[in-house]
Amino acid sequence: MNYNTKLLSTSERDIAYAAKLLADGEVVGIPTETVYGLAADAENEDAVKRIFEAKGRPQDNPLIVHIADVAQLEDYVHDIPKLAYKLAEKFCPGPLTMVLPKKDRIPDVTSAGLDTVGIRIPYHPAARKLILESGKALAAPSANLSGSPSPTTAMHVMNDMHGRIPAVVDGGSCPVGVESTVISFEDGKIRLLRPGFISADELSEFAEVICDKHITEAAIDGEQVRSPGMKYKHYSPKANVTIISGSVSQYIDYVNSHGGSGVYAMPFDSDKDNCKIPCITYGDTPEEQAAKLFGVLREFDDIGAKQVYARCPSTDGVGLAVYNRLLRAAGFEIISL
Ligand code: TXA
Ligand code: MG
Repeated sequence: MNYNTKLLSTSERDIAYAAKLLADGEVVGIPTETVYGLAADAENEDAVKRIFEAKGRPQDNPLIVHIADVAQLEDYVHDIPKLAYKLAEKFCPGPLTMVLPKKDRIPDVTSAGLDTVGIRIPYHPAARKLILESGKALAAPSANLSGSPSPTTAMHVMNDMHGRIPAVVDGGSCPVGVESTVISFEDGKIRLLRPGFISADELSEFAEVICDKHITEAAIDGEQVRSPGMKYKHYSPKANVTIISGSVSQYIDYVNSHGGSGVYAMPFDSDKDNCKIPCITYGDTPEEQAAKLFGVLREFDDIGAKQVYARCPSTDGVGLAVYNRLLRAAGFEIISL
């Protein structure tokens, strides 16, 4: 791993160049509507191994496979429930990952030895072009170093991956900002494994939704989890993050009386004027917060924050995804006032 990493545009020429790299078994940073992905040919074991190396990702955490069209589902997975097709019709292409029984052509390295694989059809035009032009299904985890906040700009990817991969395609900021909603199917029900932009409420129009308890609860050491990613304390910035739950005035009083060297507040935009200690705000609505969260966590690292007090977000809609990621950034540390 000692590449002179190229920053590519989404011009036809650069996409063709990136697609060729992917077809040749190389790893490329690519934009999607959720977060940037670290992509490689999902069926090429060596290429997939390079993703794990570049990220420093534990071998037991499976990758999501990205395809261009619902028609390709049957090429990679089997026993697809009717419900999956109904959801695909409504939400795909889009930020939804469905875990389904994998066909043998998906190697064990990609699925981390599981007999299922998560499949997603991204709507980002550059991601779609790269899948179509490379002619490959693309395995792609988020393009951060394992344990860091997910990247939502090409610069975030460059910061983490410079020298580790040959190229990053710059498709601008990711509009959603948090990773896809991950679901599996259980006796006609939907199990929510990771919340995302597509909410439990939206899914519940199609079937009963079981929210896995590990969305909001830490897994105890050795405890069985339904999605390997749930085991890790993810998205951890270098600073110690603490979530402060309570009314706005309680939050403001708390941060204003806990200032100090390296201490920052992470309030909503509308709280800024009342905050008397240094702060970086992260939006007001759940959609704004999703789009800003990871970038703000990275900013705290850049300025060398030691302690960050984040105002607890609402869990409505995509807010549950924001809360779930923030909980992991905080190592599940919440102070309830
Ligand atoms: O939005 C996204 O999903 C982004 C973009 C690049 O598409 N990708 C992404 O991948 O977030 P990653 O690898 O960072 O997260 C995938 C999550 C992990 O928590 C993993 O454990 C879970 O999905 N997962 C993948 N395959 C699974 C499977 N077969 N069964 C259960 N969980 C699975
Ligand atoms: Mg990730």
